[in-house]
Amino acid sequence: MSLIPLFSIPCISRLLPSSPMKPLTSLLLALLFLSSHTVLSFKRDEFRNCNQTPFCKRARSRSRSPGGCTLTPHNISISNGELTATLLSEHEDQIRPLILSLSVYHDGILRLKIDEDYDHSDPPCPKTRFQVPDVITSEFDSNKLWLQQLSTETLNDETSPSTVVYLSDGYDAVLRHDPFEIYVRDKQSGNQKLISLNSHQLFDFEQLRVKKEGEEDGENWEERFRSHTDKRPYGPQSISFDVSFYSAEFVSGIPERAMSLALKPTRGPGVEKDVEPYRLFNLDVFEYLSESPFGLYGSLPLMISHGKEGRSAGFFWLNAAEMQIDVLGDGWDAESGIDWVKQKRIDTFWMSEAGIVDAFFFVGPGPKEVVRQYTSVTGRPAMPQLFSIAYHQCRWNYRDEEDVENVDAKFDEHDIPYDVLWLDIDHTDGRRYFTWDSALFPHPEGMQKKLAEKGRHMVTIVDPHIKRDDSFRLHKEAAEKGYYVKDAGGKDFDGWCWPGSSSYLDMVNPEIRSWWGDKFSYKNYVGSTPSLYIWNDMNEPSVFNGPEVSMPRDALHLGGIEHRELHNSYGYYFHMATSNGLLKRGGGNDRPFVLSRAFFPGSQRYGPVWTGDNTADWDHLRVSVPMILTLGLTGISFSGADVGGYFGNPGPELLVRWYQLGAFYPFFRGHAHQDTKRREPWLFGEKNTRLIREAIRVRYMLLPYFYTLFREANTTGLPVMRPLWMEFPSDEATFSNDEAFMIGSSLLVQGIYTEGEKYAFVYLPGKELWYDIRIGDAYMGGKTHKLDAAESVPALQRAGTIIPRKDRLRRSSTQMVKDPYTLVIAVNSSQAAEGELYIDDGKSFEFLQGAYIHRRFVFANGKLTSMNLAPFSSSKSQFSSKSIIERIILLGYAPGPKNALIEPANQKVEVELGPLMLGGSRGSSVLTIRKPAVQVSDDWTIKIL
Ligand code: NOJ
Repeated sequence: MSLIPLFSIPCISRLLPSSPMKPLTSLLLALLFLSSHTVLSFKRDEFRNCNQTPFCKRARSRSRSPGGCTLTPHNISISNGELTATLLSEHEDQIRPLILSLSVYHDGILRLKIDEDYDHSDPPCPKTRFQVPDVITSEFDSNKLWLQQLSTETLNDETSPSTVVYLSDGYDAVLRHDPFEIYVRDKQSGNQKLISLNSHQLFDFEQLRVKKEGEEDGENWEERFRSHTDKRPYGPQSISFDVSFYSAEFVSGIPERAMSLALKPTRGPGVEKDVEPYRLFNLDVFEYLSESPFGLYGSLPLMISHGKEGRSAGFFWLNAAEMQIDVLGDGWDAESGIDWVKQKRIDTFWMSEAGIVDAFFFVGPGPKEVVRQYTSVTGRPAMPQLFSIAYHQCRWNYRDEEDVENVDAKFDEHDIPYDVLWLDIDHTDGRRYFTWDSALFPHPEGMQKKLAEKGRHMVTIVDPHIKRDDSFRLHKEAAEKGYYVKDAGGKDFDGWCWPGSSSYLDMVNPEIRSWWGDKFSYKNYVGSTPSLYIWNDMNEPSVFNGPEVSMPRDALHLGGIEHRELHNSYGYYFHMATSNGLLKRGGGNDRPFVLSRAFFPGSQRYGPVWTGDNTADWDHLRVSVPMILTLGLTGISFSGADVGGYFGNPGPELLVRWYQLGAFYPFFRGHAHQDTKRREPWLFGEKNTRLIREAIRVRYMLLPYFYTLFREANTTGLPVMRPLWMEFPSDEATFSNDEAFMIGSSLLVQGIYTEGEKYAFVYLPGKELWYDIRIGDAYMGGKTHKLDAAESVPALQRAGTIIPRKDRLRRSSTQMVKDPYTLVIAVNSSQAAEGELYIDDGKSFEFLQGAYIHRRFVFANGKLTSMNLAPFSSSKSQFSSKSIIERIILLGYAPGPKNALIEPANQKVEVELGPLMLGGSRGSSVLTIRKPAVQVSDDWTIKIL
């Protein structure tokens, strides 16, 4: 990326003066924002719609006439191992040529770039457009296939030639010349199209320019929304184009929004006129609605299609400006009279306010491959610490040290395990992050140590807005160093957030990120200890008095990058800087834990995200599932929703149901707004306490399985929580199922989303049996069953799988480390099953040097075998565990066995009947091998006799 020097722009009028505010003004503003953040509910008109967003309005209206693009590629050649071409148009609107490049990567990934041709432009381009750095991994870059040759063909039915590029053994990439189109074709299915761009000739690229003398002000040079005006010194600079997915039944992805997994059409026959495109613009949306397409805190421009034969494909546009995407219903283009493509397909229309085209096509062929391909570009999810995948207890706010101590003690009193206690903004001295309120939290180190003695951790909040207070060292230093984002007039941007008047660090600058990272050292963050980790909130960034509660688009970053160009990546950079700070704090050997609200492609490398401020109602409980599933599909495998609902007071039944579902979220945290009633698990009577305890205990029992899945995500990108169709890609009955999901490939969970429900109708895919994880009852796949849900949510183990568990009840996950394992074997119709177990030290990076145990368990022909999956490691880093397998449970195994023979020990043990879950009162007895006492890290076999 080349950067241009900071330019000067005339000062614009601001809502708030940047000079210090009079106390009365600040009090009034505080009251105004406080009330708007406590009393009112979601206000649609505080946010722009497409018609109020000039680039969206222009692009959408252009897209009503497909066929408008007249660009054609010229000078097609190979340069630097890529296909390059110049895009020219006969059209007079185009000021300068564009440069197109197509490059091919390992695993059949195609990358398309279209940008200004800066070297051959007359008049010259006034500035370099923003190309997002720091997202694509260097491993991916090194996987480029060096193109050797291009072939030119005139394909069937075509009048103009196309240039064909080898993509992989199964696929070609095609650049059709006239009209210009790019697509991937599937060689195995007779060269059918799989994904294409510009098939409807909707491509449009607004080129930067500066205002001519005498040219009138107007929409080109500034835009207004409510009381805000944003200057546009380079005029309109948006890009739009159509993308088609073939043989697709539905498309999903492009989080974040609180709605179904499959994206509904936003235009076309049968769609109401005022339906908005899907918006990707990171926003702090107060009291967001459930079942609404409205864009929320994070943006991830990856769309995944899925079709009947289990076929998936993906399209990803790396661009950090505001984006709007239409999903076009069948027949949307009927009025144009043009029928470009005969194949069945789903058309979509992508619009972005700025940036360049940097797009990736993923060929699948299944949904798992698409996620793997996407995360090979943007990075695999970080491997979390073990404690962080256990239960977290949060509230705005735990008041003081005594409150913390009481809550902590109550968990023990009620035998409920938990791992992390969280402190929200009011633990600080006046919302100056990295500080403590000395009256409420006089002994932060001692408080953390007490928790740490029980193996527990603490998380404190650190937001990006920095209080503009000259006596606050952090602010003083940042201001002196010139580290803040600037307003359009070149002064430090001054916005309103929790602490009042605040400024925001320019996190796109690596020097500032590194400075920020140093603030997490134990020396700088006074009162922090090694068991303290971090929560990044409000990093969209949220600016209470900004347009749409956000930073003005004409604010300026490093080298004159306009905020509009990078808005969606701001939170990502903040998350990255914090995570790298914790990495440094721990000498590079302590896995960071940083929760973030805003996200962008690549966020998965820095820590989990959560779905923000949901509400304590049944609809929000229901929508949490498609929200988390969508995040998982788009690489963010570690996510969750506030258990209990953030706003409002859940009744006991809703709270219990939320714990029962939340126990299966990858990130499992209870959290609540400051105005809500206390709702710790023991406050709703004995029965509800028991039900919540049981729900949390199930999560703790399953931690070995979850941890193994997190490692799978870390190596392959596959999400922990998956839509059913990811595991059963050609089962059409799963395509619109947003209520049930898989945890890994072995466990199916169905939430309960209505009050008073005692049963659930659960569709179980596949042709094999499923076993209730609590009572062991078996149900046939391929059918819908009425399952008991009175005291728990249905959760079933798939036949043919082995799930590792730890069954002993402890206070925290850390205290379970040395505990023995239970293996639950659910055999399939061939009386066979398999599963995996991954173990490491749960906290360091030694696993990267091979310090881990990875076992594969195979049960076949009456014999269970434990095999090593870890490659031989010659490094000094070794991980060993003395844990044994204490129980083996057999579900569905033909009755009759009496004994089992353990090898190599040559020892006989009895097969007896035992409980499926310890301490569980319900359920029949199941075949159990008690105390086989084999080491988890060893090779062994157990033969049923
Ligand atoms: C907004 C966050 O989404 C919420 O979780 C938090 O409690 C408040 N900010 C206060 O920090």
